[in-house]
Amino acid sequence: LQTLPPLELAEKYFQIFPEERDPLWQNPCHDKRHKDIWSKEKTCDRLPKFLVIGPQKTGTTALHSFLTLHPAITSSFSSPVTFEEIQFFNGPSYHNGIDWYMDFFPFPSNASTDFMFEKSANYFDTEVVPKRAAALLPRAKIIAVLINPADRAYSWYQHQRAHQDPSAINYTFHQVVTAGQSSSKELLVLQSRSLKPGEYATHLERWLLHFQSKQVHIVDGAMLRSNPALVMEGIQRFLGVTPIFNYTQALMFDESKGFWCQRIEGSRPKCLGKSKGRKYPEMAPETRAFLTEYYREHNMELLRLLNRLGLTLPSWLREELQSSS
Ligand code: A3P
Repeated sequence: LQTLPPLELAEKYFQIFPEERDPLWQNPCHDKRHKDIWSKEKTCDRLPKFLVIGPQKTGTTALHSFLTLHPAITSSFSSPVTFEEIQFFNGPSYHNGIDWYMDFFPFPSNASTDFMFEKSANYFDTEVVPKRAAALLPRAKIIAVLINPADRAYSWYQHQRAHQDPSAINYTFHQVVTAGQSSSKELLVLQSRSLKPGEYATHLERWLLHFQSKQVHIVDGAMLRSNPALVMEGIQRFLGVTPIFNYTQALMFDESKGFWCQRIEGSRPKCLGKSKGRKYPEMAPETRAFLTEYYREHNMELLRLLNRLGLTLPSWLREELQSSS
């Protein structure tokens, strides 16, 4: 029997099995052989029970902040690398392993009644995420927030401008979404990043390959914005979390912000920061018409998907399909 020092042995191993370079982390407690060699000091309880997967710009920060008001729901700690979100399943951090991920979660005081979660809005449309998430968290519940994809694209473009992205500053939104194949690479990248996450059905179908439909909850982002208390009630029932927290008491509408905010002592509103609920001009009608056309088939797919799952259609989807028929 021949062997090598550990590092060389590992190199040799990955030469022979290159496909194993990309790990797929599983929960050590779901397999007796893994559990037996898992350190006694460690627990498998420092993992989320549900994920808010995005996509970006649909109201995920508002949802995150409302969820944390619930006495039985605890968010992950925020990441020093990516500001708020952990972005474990979608990025290079995945290779840091599950101990790294678990460190973002507190030790639950009661693992069966505490609901820990994390929100990373890029999970929704990143190809590898559903497979990785299902490997580690096969019983997790998944929450996606959907708004009209045209509005999502526009909000995302405004977000890039606010962050001084040079290509978003150089091109109008109309130029971005209508750019043809011969356009510059930077413009096409911007276009793809603004449009692709809004192809909702394609992304959801990928999640449904790895999670059962009863594990997935779709939030109407327009309703989250206009009637968050109702949406939060639906989410609590979906999660099966108790007690049912009354968000009509906990939230209040702030006229100057134009959004629902947390109600704090003295009945004052505590709203999200300036970067959430930005003020910008309305989308030009010709751009909206272009995007209605662009998303027509994707929205039809979403309609078929939601009908198949027996889910209520978001109001914006009904309106969009009526106006484009
Ligand atoms: P705009 O700033 O373009 O209006 P995300 O948190 O996923 O990045 O989404 C940001 C969007 O959340 C905002 O986009 C805003 O429209 C929406 N939103 C929904 N409810 C909100 C709330 N209560 N407070 C602030 N923004 C909210």
